[in-house]
Amino acid sequence: MNAIEVTGMTVTQVLGYGIQKGKTEYYRGVEMTMNLLPKIQVDIVVSKVPVAAVIQAARQAIYTRHIGDGKIFVYDVEDVVKIRTGESGVDALQGEE
Ligand SMILES: Nc1ncnc2c1ncn2[C@@H]1O[C@H](COP(=O)(O)OP(=O)(O)OP(=O)(O)O)[C@@H](O)[C@H]1O
Ligand SMILES: [Mg+2]
Repeated sequence: MNAIEVTGMTVTQVLGYGIQKGKTEYYRGVEMTMNLLPKIQVDIVVSKVPVAAVIQAARQAIYTRHIGDGKIFVYDVEDVVKIRTGESGVDALQGEE
C-alpha cells in the first residue's frame, strides 16, 4: 500500500463467516461448529489513488488461492475531515505538498 501511496489504513480484529459458514472442529471429542471465525478487517479510503490499484495490491498481498482468503468490498465514502487542519475531501487524505 505504501508503494501505491495509500496514506492510511485501519486494521480491526473481527469475527465473520463466508460461503462455508465457518467450520466444524472437535473440542474434547465433541463436534463443534464455529460459525464465526476470527478475521482481520482492513479499511482503506482513497481519492487520488485508483480503487483498482488498491484492489490489485491487496490481492497480491493476501492471495493464497485457498478458501477464506477474504473479500474486498468497494463502497463510497461521502467525505473525510482532517481534524488538525479542517481540510475535507481529497485534501484531507493528502500530506502537506
Ligand atoms: N457477504 C458477506 N457480507 C459480509 N461479510 C462477508 C461476506 N462474505 C464474506 N464476508 C467476510 O469475509 C470473510 C472471509 O470470507 P471468505 O473469504 O470465506 O468468503 P467466501 O465467499 O466464503 O470465499 P471462499 O469460498 O474463498 O472462502 C468472512 O469471514 C466475513 O467476515
Ligand atoms: Mg469462505
